Amino acid sequence: MQKLYYKKLRFELYQADFLEFLKEFPENSIDMVFADPPYFLSSGTFTCQNGKMVSVKKGDWDLSNGLKKNFEFHLEWIKAVRKILKPNGTIWISGTYHSIY
Ligand SMILES: C[S@@+](CC[C@H](N)C(=O)[O-])C[C@H]1O[C@@H](n2cnc3c(N)ncnc32)[C@H](O)[C@@H]1O
Repeated sequence: MQKLYYKKLRFELYQADFLEFLKEFPENSIDMVFADPPYFLSSGTFTCQNGKMVSVKKGDWDLSNGLKKNFEFHLEWIKAVRKILKPNGTIWISGTYHSIY
């Protein structure tokens, strides 16, 4: 399900499941995609930071499912993006060295 979150002249912001939302777009139709996907840095445990006990959990969406599953997650959405990007389209992806490859 998608929700129109904000709208202004020539600009719309939606809240949606990314893979579902991508299905709305025709193939080879998008010039540029910027994505900041989960880095899977959370473990659900605690660590010590500046002498204080802090949670290592940004949310369920950031919990790692193991290297293989994390990789498959990224591969699935990047493949879906590839379909809707124009042949000379651009993708920008935020990540960290442990996840971006
Ligand atoms: C690294 S954070 C990005 C945070 C963002 N740049 C910000 O400033 O709020 C990754 C985000 O991806 C979202 N996310 C995870 N799976 C998603 C999905 N299937 N569809 C859409 N968003 C998803 C999470 O809820 C989380 O907010």
